[in-house]
Amino acid sequence: MSALKLGGLVTVLGVASQLLSLVGAQPSPVVQERISAAISRAAIDPQNVDYTEFVNVFIGTDNYGDVCPGASIPFGMVKFSTDLTGYAPAGYVTDPTQQIRGLSPMHDSGTGSSLGTYGNFEIMPLLCPEGFDTCAVRLDDRLRYRKNNTDEAYPGYFAQTLDNDIKMEATSTRRAGLERFTFPNGSKPYFTLDLANDLPQSFAGGSMNIDPEQGRITMGGYWGSSFGPGAFHYQAFACYDLLDGGKQTLDEYGVWTGETFGLNYWDDAKGLGLTHLNLSVDLIGDVYQSGALLSYAGEPEEIIIRVGISFVSLEQACANAEAEVGDASFEDIVDRSKALWNAQLSKVEIDFAQTEPNVTEMLYSSLYRSFLTPNNATDETQGDFVNTTHFYFDSLYCSWDTFRTFYPLMALHSPVEFAQIVDNYIDSYLKRGWMPDCRANNLPGWTQGGSSADVIIGHFAMTYHEEAEKLGINLEQLYAAMIADAEINPPEWNIQGRQVNVYKQYGYVPFAALDTASTGRMTREGSRTLEYAYEDFAVRQVALLLNKTDDVTTYTNRSYFYRNVWDPTVESDGFTGFSQKRYSNGTFYYTDPIDCSPADPDQNRECSLQDDNIVGFYESSSWEYSYFAPHDMAYLVKLMGGNTTFIQRLDHFFNASYFNVGNEPSFNTPINYHYADSPTKSVDQVHNTVFSYFDITPAGLPGNDDQGAMATILAWDLLGLYPVPGTTEILVVSPFLPKYTIHNEYLGISTTFTVKNFDPRSVQQTIPPGVAAYVKSVTINGAEALSRCHFDFYDVFRVGGEVVIEVTADKDAVNDCGASLPFSLSTGGFDTVR
Ligand SMILES: *[C@@H]1O[C@H](CO)[C@@H](O)[C@H](O)[C@H]1NC(C)=O
Ligand SMILES: *[C@@H]1O[C@H](CO)[C@@H](O)[C@H](O)[C@H]1NC(C)=O
Ligand SMILES: *[C@@H]1O[C@H](CO)[C@@H](O)[C@H](O)[C@H]1NC(C)=O
Ligand SMILES: *[C@@H]1O[C@H](CO)[C@@H](O)[C@H](O)[C@H]1NC(C)=O
Ligand SMILES: *[C@@H]1O[C@H](CO)[C@@H](O)[C@H](O)[C@H]1NC(C)=O
Ligand SMILES: *[C@@H]1O[C@H](CO)[C@@H](O)[C@H](O)[C@H]1NC(C)=O
Ligand SMILES: *[C@@H]1O[C@H](CO)[C@@H](O)[C@H](O)[C@H]1NC(C)=O
Ligand SMILES: *[C@@H]1O[C@H](CO)[C@@H](O)[C@H](O)[C@H]1NC(C)=O
Ligand SMILES: *[C@@H]1O[C@H](CO)[C@@H](O)[C@H](O)[C@H]1NC(C)=O
Ligand SMILES: *[C@@H]1O[C@H](CO)[C@@H](O)[C@H](O)[C@H]1NC(C)=O
Ligand SMILES: *[C@@H]1O[C@H](CO)[C@@H](O)[C@H](O)[C@H]1NC(C)=O
Repeated sequence: MSALKLGGLVTVLGVASQLLSLVGAQPSPVVQERISAAISRAAIDPQNVDYTEFVNVFIGTDNYGDVCPGASIPFGMVKFSTDLTGYAPAGYVTDPTQQIRGLSPMHDSGTGSSLGTYGNFEIMPLLCPEGFDTCAVRLDDRLRYRKNNTDEAYPGYFAQTLDNDIKMEATSTRRAGLERFTFPNGSKPYFTLDLANDLPQSFAGGSMNIDPEQGRITMGGYWGSSFGPGAFHYQAFACYDLLDGGKQTLDEYGVWTGETFGLNYWDDAKGLGLTHLNLSVDLIGDVYQSGALLSYAGEPEEIIIRVGISFVSLEQACANAEAEVGDASFEDIVDRSKALWNAQLSKVEIDFAQTEPNVTEMLYSSLYRSFLTPNNATDETQGDFVNTTHFYFDSLYCSWDTFRTFYPLMALHSPVEFAQIVDNYIDSYLKRGWMPDCRANNLPGWTQGGSSADVIIGHFAMTYHEEAEKLGINLEQLYAAMIADAEINPPEWNIQGRQVNVYKQYGYVPFAALDTASTGRMTREGSRTLEYAYEDFAVRQVALLLNKTDDVTTYTNRSYFYRNVWDPTVESDGFTGFSQKRYSNGTFYYTDPIDCSPADPDQNRECSLQDDNIVGFYESSSWEYSYFAPHDMAYLVKLMGGNTTFIQRLDHFFNASYFNVGNEPSFNTPINYHYADSPTKSVDQVHNTVFSYFDITPAGLPGNDDQGAMATILAWDLLGLYPVPGTTEILVVSPFLPKYTIHNEYLGISTTFTVKNFDPRSVQQTIPPGVAAYVKSVTINGAEALSRCHFDFYDVFRVGGEVVIEVTADKDAVNDCGASLPFSLSTGGFDTVR
């Protein structure tokens, strides 16, 4: 979760979500009917499939999934969506009791900041039967409900109809798009364009110009981050072309200003015929509202508006619209967007006839969201990145969320895109000295665990070092970026880097230690130590790859620092030994391991970045984070009392509701049974997790998508695999579908997984007795693997070919890994790199 969970919010939201799911009036039933029909057709005619038809963009738009269902291309900087009132960080939510503020071109998907992110440059179509002066333009005045059960969207297309029967549609390119509005017959189209309001209410000055001859409105200004220091501002610009190449004629136009509260709607100030607004930041607080108001001549039913966006300048915003949309029709842009989506989604092929339709829909919807972010803002840079020659991505939000499953999934099929994002991380080191943990709205955002970017770029190096140079990545520079994070203490570690000076001195991040050279919020010492140690392990792997012998020694040692926050005396529910934060004199600071878990009796406890988060773990409990040493689980098993106790403890973890499925540190717990040589229990737990918490409805995500983090853990679960980030090891769990092929166009290879003895009855929460689902053997290109629990990326995803996973119902016969457990550092695992 990258959300700043504010104390009371958690309980309030829990109750609200139950109420909302009863209402459930969105999206249009047409959406699911269309998807189901497409899946049925694909079963009959698998040669001619449009992969966008299997995607349900509304999954995660209820129940605080914070997914943006708006029109976007893969990694699009523009994501057109409406913005709604209430808790709607991505703009849109299904809740029909919320009202629409307008349609806007920029959003992030799956981030849970309290007020939202972007939502600038909203346009709202209006009916003003009494004329220009009576139009309701201010935010609260113009709000309208939607027409229930009419929301429609698919990859590249978004539509919503207001309760006054105005239909709004949008489609997009990377930095521009088209909006189409259909007005009820016999009405004059009016529009207001909002200069100041964004979702986080962060306006810090801007200006607007109307050019009535050209039919163009340009605007731009400064706004603040949705998840970072309020002291920083980013610039953004928009260019609205109103005439549809001369097919539409403007009538009235003007600008307006208004206050947020206290006045009636007719008390805003409108200037008919005025063309210019130039507003500085409103220092007394809140948002000084302002914008443009215009109408069209006649009573045209349909209005097309072209929008360009830029983070560089007004001129570039207009140039982007001209270059990317030009005079293309709405349908042209939808088709181009769908073609781009098909190129991404077809990287994974399945057997439609043999796959449970819900699995097909969950899989392609998850893949869709894994290609939705981060936002490609190459050539749209500002601040430290002005005119960079590197690729540039906005909304790395946050690396702590995405390193675990998002980038390892990308490594299976998309080395080109992965390399571009790695290039962008390295450029951040070159320009700012450290890589970002969280970049939100082009600004440095809050650091969550440490420098998780190390694991991301480390994963790239481990999987593609042979192609790195061709892909534009210099491995020595990549390594230098990791070393900077690992060795150089930034002056302020809330926004980048790690508190490495005291971490190196003590072997853990000490609580209440004197640090005379840097500042940051002195919280989360337990989880920061655990994450820092894993980041050090990622450095160690790349050091091994590049033959940095001394560094291998140093970082191997630091990889074990997770042990230094292990307090063997702490007991909870009869289990002994938990991670705890620790004073610099070595004494542990006790907090109850249940604190900040879903079963915490105090649901108002501060568990996130707040200064009174005393438990020592970020958005997690000690019960949860104590399992976090993915590189050295064998030792953790020992610390927890050996295989039997470890298994009992995991069972209890799930049974007692300490598992927090929507939280990234919990991602690896369902498969942890593998490390106690009990892989069939991982299979059961993953099935239980998928069917308890995920489905194809808008509420089908257990919390924030976290920029595709949840999408990609689900994708891995369905594929029956699980990655160890920063390494080439992949664990074998058990696929939810009988066959799939992953294409890696760059390497020119395809890998087909076939599940021998696949039983469709296994695709449910509890696998019934007698149903095959437990892995008996793994055969890679004809050779049976020694272990049925893990294989190496190099033997499978860099070679291509055929992998056969044979499953059985005889659980007891196969409840061990065979010749080898998944790797652990302290038992000689990860000793060589490929
Ligand atoms: C939509 O449904 C909600 C919940 O049932 C209801 O409160 C609202 O009035 C409906 N909106 C319209 C425009 O009918
Ligand atoms: C609006 O009027 C036109 C012509 O009078 C007609 O063709 C069209 O179907 C009408 N549209 C609606 C939504 O009623
Ligand atoms: C807006 O006003 C400021 C001074 O208040 C001026 O410096 C700036 O150039 C103006 N900007 C525009 C776009 O007119
Ligand atoms: C970036 O490039 C533009 C266009 O070449 C130039 O006008 C601008 O001065 C450059 N900015 C910086 C900070 O170098
Ligand atoms: C990002 O945009 C640049 C510039 O258009 C393009 O070259 C690159 O392929 C894009 N990358 C992704 C991942 O979308
Ligand atoms: C590291 O050493 C190995 C074995 O000596 C060698 O094969 C490899 O090319 C070296 N790698 C680098 C990056 O120097
Ligand atoms: C790490 O290095 C320190 C200092 O040299 C040493 O005391 C410690 O035993 C080492 N830890 C491991 C696990 O090797
Ligand atoms: C370590 O410091 C803490 C906090 O000042 C104190 O409570 C504890 O007794 C100290 N431990 C030792 C061994 O001195
Ligand atoms: C757990 O079981 C595995 C496989 O039988 C064994 O190698 C390992 O030593 C056991 N671990 C502990 C801590 O007993
Ligand atoms: C789960 O908890 C319930 C009661 O809380 C208990 O009856 C049951 O035995 C537990 N199951 C496991 C597997 O621990
Ligand atoms: C498919 O998903 C829908 C919506 O969550 C659910 O009602 C249905 O039971 C699921 N079907 C299967 C076979 O799991």
